[in-house]
Amino acid sequence: MPLSRRGSGTLLTPTGQHLAMHTRTQDDESLPHATKRTMTDHLRRLETLFTLTPQRMRMITQSFRETLENGLEKVDQVVPMIPTFVFGWPSGQEQGDYLAIDLGGTNLRVCLVHLQGKGKFEVTQSKYRLSEEQKQDEGQKLFDFCAESLKTFIDSNSGEDGILHLEPGEKLPLGFTFSYPCKQNSIDHGILIRWTKGFGAPNTEGENVAEMFQKSLDKFELPVTLTALINDTTGTLIASHYVNPHTRIACIFGTGCNAAYMEHVKDIPKIKDLGIDGGMDMVINCEWGAFDSFEHEHLPRSKYDISIDESSNKPGEQAFEKLISGRYLGEILRLVICELIDDGILFLGQNTYKVEVTNALDTALLSLMESDPTEELLMIIGIFSHFFALETTLAERQFLRAIARLIGRRAARLSACGIGAIVGKMGYLENGCAVGCDGSLYNKYPGFAGRIQEGLVDIFGEKARNIYTHHCRRWIWPMTKARKDAGIHAHL
Ligand code: GLC
Repeated sequence: MPLSRRGSGTLLTPTGQHLAMHTRTQDDESLPHATKRTMTDHLRRLETLFTLTPQRMRMITQSFRETLENGLEKVDQVVPMIPTFVFGWPSGQEQGDYLAIDLGGTNLRVCLVHLQGKGKFEVTQSKYRLSEEQKQDEGQKLFDFCAESLKTFIDSNSGEDGILHLEPGEKLPLGFTFSYPCKQNSIDHGILIRWTKGFGAPNTEGENVAEMFQKSLDKFELPVTLTALINDTTGTLIASHYVNPHTRIACIFGTGCNAAYMEHVKDIPKIKDLGIDGGMDMVINCEWGAFDSFEHEHLPRSKYDISIDESSNKPGEQAFEKLISGRYLGEILRLVICELIDDGILFLGQNTYKVEVTNALDTALLSLMESDPTEELLMIIGIFSHFFALETTLAERQFLRAIARLIGRRAARLSACGIGAIVGKMGYLENGCAVGCDGSLYNKYPGFAGRIQEGLVDIFGEKARNIYTHHCRRWIWPMTKARKDAGIHAHL
């Protein structure tokens, strides 16, 4: 590739992003391009569209908090605030071997967890990618796939050299992380309220998924006992507290986005008839991805967001999640790019059909674009030529990166509003707390955690520095079983 001409200056946009005024020599000769001025104008427009002011964030946080309170008060709310029947924190001293199976939005994971006490653990795991077809196929087939993968894992880790040594007839406790909204009336039961994250497997919504999974476990005659079914946020909360006892809230920022936190039973009016001791604490799975669904009153949705929503398998639903999670961010950028192609701003004279395919731009590519450390943005050159057969000028690459940054920053700042709502409701600002986080966006998107922190400071001021996020893998949560044995789950 010919070398670039360098250093002819930059343009500064209102929020301080720099657009270079130089381009590669051969681009100027072979391909027509929009002027830098046109790109700057578009960037200004997009900045206005995607930027959240501190005042707007405070308003969102306030309505978010009201929504959470409503969900605790009344049943069947859009943000359902699901009681999980997981009571109290782990002690950190739990020990033993547990199997965990985790059906997320993108992968299925099978893990063997060895808890050593004192917040320490070891995990052995296998990961299987879910195909788009599997997500739409019969529900029972999906659970069969989970059971079959578990069988492969157990078989390949058993035997003399393996890590699993089961006596004849012995059964291992198995925890099932099922990361979709389920109505629970005990820890080993869950009626799927609705699929999220693009899943649509028929004959599953409205069913007890623990029972469906048990059927599959029986079919494969596995040496396990299904002891608990929980959401990934609940798992992250328990696991995070095991390793960091300051944890009060847990979030997932991955294919989907959601949070769980520990609530006082006396402050969950909708379950007062169950007669649970009001002095106890129970984990609430918020299912906050549904915030502002259907009515769209509070969130700043752009025309790109609206288009993603309308063409999704669940229009109107998961409004908050659709602005934040990994399943959608790449598509937001792709829609912006397509619009600019149509307007004659980007990739003039090139064949753009590859980038015009729905979902062709994975959120992982946004992460790479934002993390490109080279002055020439070589990573972005690679991404666009490899995936979309497109050549880019340096100005285009800087422009594209600036848009990626706007989309990623908005996602993190909206996430801060959700965390802020729980922090405000529970009064955690003064003494501070840790927020355990997991998911590909949190773990891999450059600067995501820092932008959440910055957002919290915009909402609450300097005191927000008392609230900090930390990464935690959720696999170790099945220790909940150990606590159940110890009689902690008195109400199950
Ligand atoms: C979706 C699911 C929720 C899950 C989240 C993160 O929002 O509805 O249950 O916790 O994704 O995986």
